[in-house]
Amino acid sequence: MDSKRRQLITGISLAGAGVLINACRAKQGSSGTATNENPKNEAPKTGEEERLEVTATEDLMREHGILRRALLVYQESVVKLRQDAASVPPDALEKVANLFRVFGEDYHEKKLEETFIFPTVKKAPGVAASYVDVLLEQHTRGREITDYVLAITKADRIASNSVQPLAKALESFVRMYEHHAAIEDTVIFPAWKTATGQAELDSLGEKFEEIEQEQFGDDGYETALKRMEEIESSLGLSNLGMFTAPAPPK
Ligand SMILES: [Fe+2]
Ligand SMILES: [Fe+2]
Repeated sequence: MDSKRRQLITGISLAGAGVLINACRAKQGSSGTATNENPKNEAPKTGEEERLEVTATEDLMREHGILRRALLVYQESVVKLRQDAASVPPDALEKVANLFRVFGEDYHEKKLEETFIFPTVKKAPGVAASYVDVLLEQHTRGREITDYVLAITKADRIASNSVQPLAKALESFVRMYEHHAAIEDTVIFPAWKTATGQAELDSLGEKFEEIEQEQFGDDGYETALKRMEEIESSLGLSNLGMFTAPAPPK
C-alpha cells in the first residue's frame, strides 16, 4: 500500500485535504502580525479565543500531547499483543503510525524542530545545546521504527513471527519518545524561547503559519485530535477512568 493510500485511509494528507494542524498555532492578527507569544488582552471574536491565547511554545507542547496519546495507544497495544495478538487490529496500529508520521515526524519534527528550534538551540549558551545531536538521532530512529510498524501492519493480520519483534519495537519507541518529549518540553523549548526573543518569535510565528497552511490547511490540530480519539475508541481505550490506579496496600 503506498503512502498516499495510507493517508487516505487515515484521513490524513500531507497537502491540503487532510487538514491537520492549523488550529494548534496562533494565527496572524488582522494587522498581519503573528500573535503567538503575545496574546492580546482584548476579547477575541467568537471562534478565535483559542488561537489568540496559544503561544508558539504552547503549540509545540500541545503537539506533544497528541503524540503522547499515540504513544499511549502503542503502550496499551504492546500489552494486548503479548496477551492475545489477534485482539490487536493491524489497521488501528497502522493509523497510529500514519498519524505519528504525518503529524509528528514530517511536520512537528522536520518542519519545526529540525528547521527552526534545534539550529537556534544548538548555538545558544547553556545545557540545551548538548541535547540536540541525540534528539536528531532519535528522530531518525523513530522514522525507522515507524517505517517498520507501517510495513508490519499493512497486512490483514500480524504474522505470528512478527508479534514479539513488533511489541519490542513499539515498547522501545514509546520509551524513547517519552524521554525525548520530556526533554524538549522542559529544556529545549524554553531555551529556544529565551534565545529567540519576542520580536523574532512573532516573526517566526508568521513563518510557521505559512508552513502549516502549506502542509495541512485549516483545523489541523482539531483534526489530529479527533483522529486520535477515533483510534482510541476503536481500541476500547477511550475511558480515562479505566487507567485510574488501584488503591495502594494499607
Ligand atoms: Fe523532537
Ligand atoms: Fe518534539
